[in-house]
Amino acid sequence: MKSQQKCIVIFALVCCFAVLVALIFSAVDIWGDDADGITEENCSKNCSVVLVENIPEDITFLENGTSHLPLSLGLYNLLDRAVRVVEIVSPLWLLNSSDYESSFQPAASQGRALLSRLQGLKNKGVQLKISSGMINSTELDILIKHNAEVHYVNMSALTKGNLHSSFWVVDRTHFYIGSASMDWRSLATRKELGVLVYNCSCLALDLHKVFSLYWGLHYKDFIPSFWSKRLFALFNRDRPLELEVNSTNALAYISSSPDVFIPKDRSSDLEAISRVIQEARHFIYISIIDYLPLLSSSTQRYWSRIDGLLREALILKKVRVRLLISCWEKTQPLTFNFIWSLRSLCMEQSNCSLEAKFFNPRVQRDGSHHGINHNRFMVTDRAIYLGNLDWVGNEFTFNAGAGFVISHPESIEGRNITVVEQLQAVFERDWFSRYTRTVQSNKIPVCNEHQINKMVTVKASHIDTGPVPVRKGQYDNRPAPLRNHRKVDGVTPDKTKHHDDGHRQGSHQSIANGHVPVMDSYQERDHIKINHLDDRLVQVKDDHDTPMDPPSHSAESSGFREMPNGAL
Ligand SMILES: *[C@@H]1O[C@H](CO)[C@@H](O)[C@H](O)[C@H]1NC(C)=O
Ligand SMILES: *[C@@H]1O[C@H](CO)[C@@H](O)[C@H](O)[C@H]1NC(C)=O
Ligand SMILES: *[C@@H]1O[C@H](CO)[C@@H](O)[C@H](O)[C@H]1NC(C)=O
Ligand SMILES: *[C@@H]1O[C@H](CO)[C@@H](O)[C@H](O)[C@H]1NC(C)=O
Ligand SMILES: *[C@@H]1O[C@H](CO)[C@@H](O)[C@H](O)[C@H]1NC(C)=O
Ligand SMILES: *[C@@H]1O[C@H](CO)[C@@H](O)[C@H](O)[C@H]1NC(C)=O
Ligand SMILES: *[C@@H]1O[C@H](CO)[C@@H](O)[C@H](O)[C@H]1NC(C)=O
Ligand SMILES: *[C@@H]1O[C@H](CO)[C@@H](O)[C@H](O)[C@H]1NC(C)=O
Ligand SMILES: *[C@@H]1O[C@H](CO)[C@@H](O)[C@H](O)[C@H]1NC(C)=O
Ligand SMILES: *[C@@H]1O[C@H](CO)[C@@H](O)[C@H](O)[C@H]1NC(C)=O
Repeated sequence: MKSQQKCIVIFALVCCFAVLVALIFSAVDIWGDDADGITEENCSKNCSVVLVENIPEDITFLENGTSHLPLSLGLYNLLDRAVRVVEIVSPLWLLNSSDYESSFQPAASQGRALLSRLQGLKNKGVQLKISSGMINSTELDILIKHNAEVHYVNMSALTKGNLHSSFWVVDRTHFYIGSASMDWRSLATRKELGVLVYNCSCLALDLHKVFSLYWGLHYKDFIPSFWSKRLFALFNRDRPLELEVNSTNALAYISSSPDVFIPKDRSSDLEAISRVIQEARHFIYISIIDYLPLLSSSTQRYWSRIDGLLREALILKKVRVRLLISCWEKTQPLTFNFIWSLRSLCMEQSNCSLEAKFFNPRVQRDGSHHGINHNRFMVTDRAIYLGNLDWVGNEFTFNAGAGFVISHPESIEGRNITVVEQLQAVFERDWFSRYTRTVQSNKIPVCNEHQINKMVTVKASHIDTGPVPVRKGQYDNRPAPLRNHRKVDGVTPDKTKHHDDGHRQGSHQSIANGHVPVMDSYQERDHIKINHLDDRLVQVKDDHDTPMDPPSHSAESSGFREMPNGAL
């Protein structure tokens, strides 16, 4: 009897001890960085929000199109305000363009300028802290020499994914979040969108907690089973911060991904997206690179999380949905099947509308795409969601990212232009611009050569129209060359690493000699269709409704340096 009791007591003690040890060793903690004394109680909710964009030089919208603060100026402005500490997380560090790239693309020098501003923080006595999924970047090495502290997050060990988060927190008072990464292309050749939020320590504090989580994972190869209380979210979708954005009442919170990086109370990006979609009454506008409801690790599965929400919004709530995506080198052909499927849901239904368009990057002489729309946002009649991830199953499952939601209460009293309306105007500017093209039914657009080859062979086997004229001359039928991974973690699942502007090892000579014609991928598509696809498709539409002819001042061609893959 007695020994049994003893046993129980000892067992209990051992259990307690084990739990204690587990707690001590697995909690990710933040150390004494409360110097500025901003706390939940006295943080500022009196914020101002400024949209920042990078519009590549060769994209011009009509005169009356809205325009916003250039991204580079916005980031400089944040650095100018910094007094104590700048915290940055970026999927990529590639600010120093090569001389070759700069010679082609004058705007590439902005990357170098930003790099030297970051180096200059040392002299201002401002601390620079960087969490990075890259261990091997010359830019980071330079910054380390200038007193930056860099913590490495080994995402391949933690989630088999990538660190795609992209935001800045300055003095826990101001922040930036958006699509751009610390890549010269984000300041030059890509169309990016983000927000700067000033004087907003309540939200900045919460975003700082996301940063601190990455910071605490320095070289860890496991995810702690307990997160420190200091990483718990202050606000979430059920308890958003009530704040003033430019003197107008609003609600806001920060979300993050993946699920295993979410301490208590934080809403995941998917939860944020689903709330924003569910609360939309009239419209949902989505601007992203890729839309693909698939999850592929060892096998491919249908990933319904977002697709299902859109179906519900379309058919049950009659919310109008517009999807602006890119047709580019890495577009998965199944994308179109999923979009057609969404669209056919609306057949014979009144007030059900799904429209999809491409924001068409201009095809360069070397076949790569520049001026790609790198935006990642959604705007509805009530809210915006601005995130770091593309809408692809793998992104949300494996990659780290952060998101930001601002919404309006049901009735805003007074009529100030709000950030939601500003973003809606941005979307509409892009949507109606001459760079977009409608995704047509039953016609797979040709976005990349991989797809052309595949399509030609598949279709050819169905249709008896003799030999297929594959155009050797214009399409280079080599498989796209594998890219040099500057990242150490090469173990990413396939679908997570398709964000690359397609900087191909270029045929410099032929370009220099001007022999290679500028291609319009859409024209190619027509030929293919007419020549060897079934006749049923041919009658459908006149393809030249919008001559998508890129203004051909095409000397803008930029990078031919091999780019790291993965995160952008
Ligand atoms: C906020 O409160 C803390 C103590 O709770 C104090 O140390 C700090 O100075 C306050 N900060 C501001 C900006 O008022
Ligand atoms: C917010 O700022 C405005 C002026 O910019 C001021 O009138 C107002 O009192 C401030 N509100 C709070 C809660 O500090
Ligand atoms: C912009 O200008 C074009 C042509 O000048 C006009 O058709 C369009 O309605 C204008 N859009 C706005 C929002 O004013
Ligand atoms: C950027 O790269 C060029 C060579 O491509 C090099 O000469 C220059 O020193 C680099 N800049 C910095 C700040 O490292
Ligand atoms: C970092 O990259 C350089 C080339 O860019 C390579 O020579 C070096 O071995 C790499 N270092 C590590 C630790 O991977
Ligand atoms: C990251 O984790 C992987 C898998 O655990 C390991 O092979 C690799 O060496 C780690 N990288 C670094 C730089 O520690
Ligand atoms: C932020 O607050 C400071 C001091 O309260 C003020 O001087 C500054 O203009 C504000 N900035 C913005 C962008 O509202
Ligand atoms: C469609 O929308 C219009 C205007 O919003 C409305 O009058 C009409 O009743 C709606 N029809 C259906 C079937 O919901
Ligand atoms: C509109 O904004 C101005 C300052 O930008 C502010 O003074 C005013 O109170 C705002 N009006 C409403 C109704 O929010
Ligand atoms: C908020 O105010 C700032 C300057 O105070 C301005 O630049 C920005 O456009 C305003 N944002 C909105 C959404 O009105």
